[in-house]
Amino acid sequence: MKDPIWNRSALNSMMLVIAAMLAACAGPQPTPVARPASPLAKYKKSAIPPGQAGDEIRLGRQIFDDTPKYAHAYVGNQLSCSDCHLNSGLASYSAPMIDLANIFPRYNRRAGRVISLQERFIECFTRSENGTPPPPGSPEIRALTAYVNWLSRDGAKGKPYPGRGLVKLPELTGNVSNGKRIYLDQCADCHGKDGAGTPPVLPPVWGPNSYNDGAGMDKVNKMAAFVIHNMPQNSPGTLTPQEAYDVSAYIHSMPRPKFNQAYKRY
Ligand code: HEC
Ligand code: HEC
Repeated sequence: MKDPIWNRSALNSMMLVIAAMLAACAGPQPTPVARPASPLAKYKKSAIPPGQAGDEIRLGRQIFDDTPKYAHAYVGNQLSCSDCHLNSGLASYSAPMIDLANIFPRYNRRAGRVISLQERFIECFTRSENGTPPPPGSPEIRALTAYVNWLSRDGAKGKPYPGRGLVKLPELTGNVSNGKRIYLDQCADCHGKDGAGTPPVLPPVWGPNSYNDGAGMDKVNKMAAFVIHNMPQNSPGTLTPQEAYDVSAYIHSMPRPKFNQAYKRY
C-alpha cells in the first residue's frame, strides 16, 4: 500500500474520528449504530486465504500495488497498476479488477481480435508500464491472474461488475492553456510542476517515468474520464467535464515515452 497520508480510506477514517469528536462535544451521546461491513471487505488483503493458493494471490496483489518492485524485469517506468486502477483494483470507475475474469476472453478493438485476460495484462505492461511483455506463463502473469480470478470468484460468467471501466463523458475539446492553470492550481502540489511526481507515493503524469503514447491513458477523453471521478485525489468529483478535458489536454501537450511498435501485437 501507499503512504497512508494519501490513502483515501485513511482520510475517510480520520473524517469519521473528527465527526465523532464533534458529535461528542455537541451534547447527548448518540446511540451507536452497527455499521454494515463494507461490500469490498471480502476483497481486502486480510481476506486472502492462507496457504499456497493464497501466496499466489498475495504475490499478484503485491505486483499490482508495487509493479516496479515486484515485476521489475518487465517495467520501464515508475508506475504501478494501482496508480490507475485505484485501491488495489477495487475502486469503481478506475477500471477495477473485480469480476473481470468472468468477461474474458473478449474482443479487443486495439488488437482487432479476441484476447485473453493474460494478454490484456501484457498490454498494460508494454503500454501503461512502458515495459516489455512478460511471457504468458511467467510467475508475474500467473500471480496477477490468481489475484484477478480471486476478485472474480463471486461474480457470474459474462456479467460485468457495475463499476467497470471509467465514467462516461461527452466528447469535448480540451483547452490547453486553461488546463495549465488548473494543473498548477490543483494537481502540481502532488504530481509536480514538472509532472514527475514523487514515486512510488505520488505517480508521474508525464516525462520519462510515465506511461507511453500507446497507453489507454494517452487519450484525452480516457484521461478526462479517469480524472473527473478520481482526481484531485484529495477532493475527487469537483472538476466539471470541461475542466477535466482541459487539464487532460494540458498533460497531453507534454512529452512522454514512445510506444515500441515491436510490441504492437499487445
Ligand atoms: C497509466 C495508467 C495505467 C496503468 C499504470 C495500468 N493501467 Fe491497466 N488500464 C488503464 C486504462 C486507462 C484502462 C482502460 C479502461 C477503459 O477504457 O475502460 C486499463 C485497462 C486495463 C484492463 C482491462 C479492464 C477492463 O475493464 O476491461 C486490465 C486487465 C488492466 N488494465 C490491467 C493492468 C495491470 C495488470 C497493470 C499493471 C501491470 C495496469 N493495468 C497498469 C490504465 C492503466
Ligand atoms: C493529493 C495529491 C494529489 C492531487 C492533488 C492530484 N493527484 Fe492525481 N494521483 C495522486 C495519487 C496518489 C495517484 C495514484 C492513485 C491513488 O493512489 O489514488 C494519482 C493518480 C493520477 C493519475 C493516474 C496515474 C498517473 O500518474 O498517470 C492521473 C492521470 C492523475 N492522478 C491526474 C491528476 C490531475 C489531473 C490532478 C489535478 C486535477 C491530480 N491528479 C491531482 C495524487 C494526487
